[in-house]
Amino acid sequence: MAKKNIDWGNIGFGYVVTDKRYVSYYKGGTWDDGALIEDDKIVMSEDAGVLQYSQSVFEGLKAYTTEDGHIVCFRPDLNASRMAESARRLEMPVFPEDRFIDAVKQTVKANQDWVPPYGTGATLYIRPYMFGISPVIGVNPAEEYMFRIFVTPVGPYFKGGAKPIVVRISDFDRAAPRGTGHIKAGLNYAMSLHAIVDAHKKGFAENIYLDPATRTKIEETGGANIIFVDHDGNLVIPASDSILPSITRRSIHYVAEHYLGLKVTEREVYLSEVKEGKFVECGLCGTAAVVSPVGIINDHGEEIRFASGTEKMGPVTQKLYDTLTGIQMGRIEAPEGWIVKIC
Ligand code: PLP
Ligand code: COI
Repeated sequence: MAKKNIDWGNIGFGYVVTDKRYVSYYKGGTWDDGALIEDDKIVMSEDAGVLQYSQSVFEGLKAYTTEDGHIVCFRPDLNASRMAESARRLEMPVFPEDRFIDAVKQTVKANQDWVPPYGTGATLYIRPYMFGISPVIGVNPAEEYMFRIFVTPVGPYFKGGAKPIVVRISDFDRAAPRGTGHIKAGLNYAMSLHAIVDAHKKGFAENIYLDPATRTKIEETGGANIIFVDHDGNLVIPASDSILPSITRRSIHYVAEHYLGLKVTEREVYLSEVKEGKFVECGLCGTAAVVSPVGIINDHGEEIRFASGTEKMGPVTQKLYDTLTGIQMGRIEAPEGWIVKIC
């Protein structure tokens, strides 16, 4: 076995076909034993539940090469439980959480030549997903499901890596009150595609969505939660029932309090407060985004600029980034249970 011949330091956030993927099939009320396979193609009915009524949920986590040369992943138990929540909300069977973790380990191990080496800035993105595969024509859940995991090596989600990005306030909503914004369902991302294409055309890296009921509060972006730093250097995190409970955000909350001694408040954050200059730093956080600094929020032509500027991460965001990635790469001791060794 030898590492793939890839220019690890210069890859973007893209998909490449790797060697093995994990598959398990749900039929007659039970999941089969599951297996690693080589075929990256899926054959299904033209009337599969996922094709007709978008019955699909997914997860995203990463595998890292640590400083001492092991391959690990970060808090996969939380991805397993979030996927179970997502499945329940879409009337899908739950893939058992212990099997989820085992399948992640098996898939990464089988593709270890694709795990970027330590220090390259790249990581292995792991995509577990599940969908209704049996035919459905009346609006009903499918009876059969496929759970799969593939992996792909990735670099930074936003071009320019750690350089602050410019985002805009979206006119579109991504979630509905009492809808599905809090789960990781493919349909939420379909909702956001027009908005992201339009944002990119206009030169913005992402959309900030406001709360769908009143459109006065900050929710999240299409692929990450948001964090703010106030004038006292403390962390303020927007709370909402219609945003995805980001594992990165929950980890940052803990790191800020327990490693950096910051005060952390999770509360509703009004766009008006952001405009009034209550915050000096802003960042996006997620598995793909890691911690990406925001330099400017554009609200219909009005620019909200953060004191941290547009050249580099603000000091608090930088400390959060360094501590979180330090834990993930084994440079900083992790809280109990956060790091799962694969090989
Ligand atoms: N919000 C959305 C809409 C996302 O797609 C993601 C990515 O998973 C996140 C937040 C961040 O979540 P996590 O930190 O668990 O990756
Ligand atoms: C992740 O961070 O894992 C996501 O699912 C976000 C997606 C935009 C790539």
